[in-house]
Amino acid sequence: MAKIGINKMGFYIPEYYLGLDDLAGVHQIDPNKYLHGIGQVKMAVPAPDEDVVTMAANAAKLILDDMTPEQKASISTVIFATETGVDQSKSGAAYLTGMIDVSPNVRAFEIKQACYGATAGIQMACDVVTVRPHESVLVIASDIAKYEQNSPGECTQGAGAVAMVISQNPDIIAFDSQRGLYSEDVMDFWRPNHMQHALVDGELSINCYLNSMAEAYKHYRENGGKSLNELPWLCFHQPFTKMAKKAYQHLQTEFADEMADHQDESYTISQIYGKDIGNTYTASMYFGLISLLENYDGDMTSQQIGLFSYGSGCVGEFFSGTVQPNYRRGLPTKEHKSMLQNRERLSYQNYERFMYQTKDDARGTIEYPAVTNSAFRMGGVVDNIRQYQAVEKA
Ligand code: CAA
Repeated sequence: MAKIGINKMGFYIPEYYLGLDDLAGVHQIDPNKYLHGIGQVKMAVPAPDEDVVTMAANAAKLILDDMTPEQKASISTVIFATETGVDQSKSGAAYLTGMIDVSPNVRAFEIKQACYGATAGIQMACDVVTVRPHESVLVIASDIAKYEQNSPGECTQGAGAVAMVISQNPDIIAFDSQRGLYSEDVMDFWRPNHMQHALVDGELSINCYLNSMAEAYKHYRENGGKSLNELPWLCFHQPFTKMAKKAYQHLQTEFADEMADHQDESYTISQIYGKDIGNTYTASMYFGLISLLENYDGDMTSQQIGLFSYGSGCVGEFFSGTVQPNYRRGLPTKEHKSMLQNRERLSYQNYERFMYQTKDDARGTIEYPAVTNSAFRMGGVVDNIRQYQAVEKA
């Protein structure tokens, strides 16, 4: 059977961040709670003229610029996964068709199921490519994680986007056909239409995550999936990186016989980028996968990775894949590292202004100050129409 999986992956993060030690200072608590107890060092903060569409366009541009015209022409479908949607009707993907270099002959749409949306998009993309192997699918996960100011969730905020091309004979990772699923109606995390930030029952959300993971893994095994013994690398959805540790420890407790050969390194390399970015909801597990592939010193070729994707509400999926020989070719590692290294640290006051005092309800007419230097920005709103702009580089 032909291999199907991720052929290219690129991410975008905003140019600004808040140090979690500064947030701890304002909250008057020991910084080690955030740095070690939660496992977050920096929080990526979007500029006031950025949203999930501009971040997605920036991530997509990074990989599209590196593709041949034939590769771009093979993209038949653009799937936008987010839980920070900018419109109740028009999809982020429809906006993107006017911003990025894809053919107009595509189906473009948005998927929502909390942080699980991108995985739903990827599985759908794999099915499209199975039926029509000459096609490829662009899946983009883009989110701004935002909680109430001074709430326990604030320290887990973040922002970013990951763009991925799913195709036959992929450069990066080929997925196994087995998948394990678990869904349940729970109120662990949600965002009502009238609210700009999420509501969460923190303890319940952690328990729902862990339970979904164990149930999804059992289902994956029932479907003929590999045992944890055969998956030396594990990559989890990471709303904060300590959650990946909790997930790993839960597997050690629940499936002790299959975890004897694992070492902490199995999951810790996938935490490196997330510690400096924060939660990116739909993109979070994929930032983890990129972190593992780009930060492991040796050659990952032929390595087997188990992946767990979780979206509150809730849906969990366990699946797996094998790293391909050309995986480094599919990853713009230099650009990723440069984005992470060349960010500006915000004062708490500016973070507060960017995150909480910027109005993004796109009502009426409003002009946004030009702040971001990224390739795409949101110029404002005219008569309730969002105005996206390509930024001319000096
Ligand atoms: N030094 C070191 N560690 C310290 C410390 C210190 N001085 N003080 C506290 N800690 C440790 C605590 O012992 C605790 O560790 P364990 O979890 O290992 O026990 C950790 O820091 C956190 O402390 P608390 O439990 O007291 O933290 P909290 O009540 O302030 O809230 C939280 C933590 C529930 C995760 C909260 O940040 C939150 O609600 N986050 C958003 C919800 C979330 O991300 N849920 C995850 C599952 S849902 C999901 O995955 C979907 C999604 O993306 C949202």
